[in-house]
Amino acid sequence: MSVAATSSASATASRFKVRRLGDALGAEVLGIDLRTPLDADDTQALLDIWMEHQVLVFPEQHVTDQQHVEFTRSFGDLEIFHQDIIRSKRVPEIFRVANVDEDGALMPPDHPTARQVSLAQFWHTDSSYRAVPCTGALLHGIEVSRTGGETQFTNMYAVYDALPEALRKQVEGRRALHDFGFLHVQQKLRPLSDAERSGMPAVWQPMVRTHPVTGRKSLYISPIYNEQIEGMSKEDSRALILELAAFAGQPQFVYSHRWETDDVVMWDNRCTMHQVTAFDPGERRVMHRTTILGDQPVAAA
Ligand code: OGA
Ligand code: MN
Repeated sequence: MSVAATSSASATASRFKVRRLGDALGAEVLGIDLRTPLDADDTQALLDIWMEHQVLVFPEQHVTDQQHVEFTRSFGDLEIFHQDIIRSKRVPEIFRVANVDEDGALMPPDHPTARQVSLAQFWHTDSSYRAVPCTGALLHGIEVSRTGGETQFTNMYAVYDALPEALRKQVEGRRALHDFGFLHVQQKLRPLSDAERSGMPAVWQPMVRTHPVTGRKSLYISPIYNEQIEGMSKEDSRALILELAAFAGQPQFVYSHRWETDDVVMWDNRCTMHQVTAFDPGERRVMHRTTILGDQPVAAA
């Protein structure tokens, strides 16, 4: 593996080897074994590297689900997904992004779970529909795609900084509605029951936020959950959300990760969006995610 352009973390000298993965965001971190608990210094060093690069790739991590969960606890409590169709039956902290069920059977593309998972093929940030959205997530590639299935990440600080004046004016000081139920509308899935709706009520989130650790401003949207923007019709809201998503998805803001088996990728959901590229639905793809529970509401910039 190339170690060109390695450096140690800027804020804290550490034993980790860090290599930037592109101009937009992302770094590969070597010299770490996710099966071994991190001490306080290593945890802080890794957090500093994460804040600098937003997305970290840890190659060759042969972790069990339980080890994946334990490593994630270094960064906080874990979010448990509220729907049983995607949450693992075996390890409840695991969110399965998979077209294969837990007994190993490939799902047909029109299976409701496969359809819900396939909405990850459009830009979003995770659990933005919660009053306190998650901090970040760690995704483990268990059966990776060779026909597509790359995970793409946007640097939403850079997107905010580069927003043309006309777009900036429309998002500054405004809020967008984040609604888990909107997923189901888009995929024409069974509508959520009243109990499901009241368990996860839609929330208004600021469209420009200040990161609680870095203090930097970023654009905050999650297009698969945003049906509406404050003070706009639904039609105009969707048009603006799609225009912002297209702006954010330009190559200069994106790192695209081509997976190898046992990569673990850790991203900050407060300052990035992600999506997975299309792949052959006949190809098995199994990815297991842990999610770091948020520790505070979204701060408007
Ligand atoms: C996720 C997600 C994309 C992928 O885990 O939150 O959107 O590449 N995954 O599987
Ligand atoms: Mn996601």
